[in-house]
Amino acid sequence: TEEGNIASRLLAWYDANHRELPWRRAPRDLAAGGRADPYRVWLSEIMLQQTTVEAVKPYFRAFLEKWPNVKALAAAETEEVMKAWAGLGYYSRARNLKACADIVAGLPEGFPGTEDELRKLPGVGAYTAAAIAAIAFNRPATVVDGNVERVTARLFEIRTPLAEAKAEIRAAVEGLVPADRPGDFAQAMMDLGATICTPRRPRCMLCPVREDCRAILSGDPELLPVRAEK
Ligand code: ADE
Repeated sequence: TEEGNIASRLLAWYDANHRELPWRRAPRDLAAGGRADPYRVWLSEIMLQQTTVEAVKPYFRAFLEKWPNVKALAAAETEEVMKAWAGLGYYSRARNLKACADIVAGLPEGFPGTEDELRKLPGVGAYTAAAIAAIAFNRPATVVDGNVERVTARLFEIRTPLAEAKAEIRAAVEGLVPADRPGDFAQAMMDLGATICTPRRPRCMLCPVREDCRAILSGDPELLPVRAEK
């Protein structure tokens, strides 16, 4: 299918060009049966909620060094966790992080693997639940963040103002998610949005799905998504 081709091209691009980030494992590790560690995925996604990738990296490494797994984090003093979080901002994230670790450390199976169960945890909203389900558990969840919204609005030339386009965008992404590699697909969309399909001056000549992109065909991708005037 058309959608399958888009996902395949994107995944091939991701295999060759993905960013090396401390919370990722190489796609080939996953193919070899290695599992993404839900603790690392959860911790990184909480940190990335309101903070850039570059700012998160040193904090993620420091947390992993101090507390290599969820039981270690649950055993920590809240004060220590708050101190380690200092500088990242949005401190309710750190309180929720600790509360979540305390709960998950008491679950015999550790982190739950479904979006519904994940959403019950403190600090885990719709986006974060989908990201953890896809990346850590290989569930075909639909992961939509700001980068994914932009890429999708351009790919399908969605001209509805972004604030009203959420359902349309979600449905379009849902149709692209490949059953075999949903987590890599989600991260491929994020990387494409961060490095190629950027808000300003997208580098369309380097894009693996430029031939599928309706925004390129019909004008100026930079003008999408449409933001309502204030
Ligand atoms: N932003 C949020 N989650 C991310 C991830 N897993 N990789 C890259 N950027 C992200």
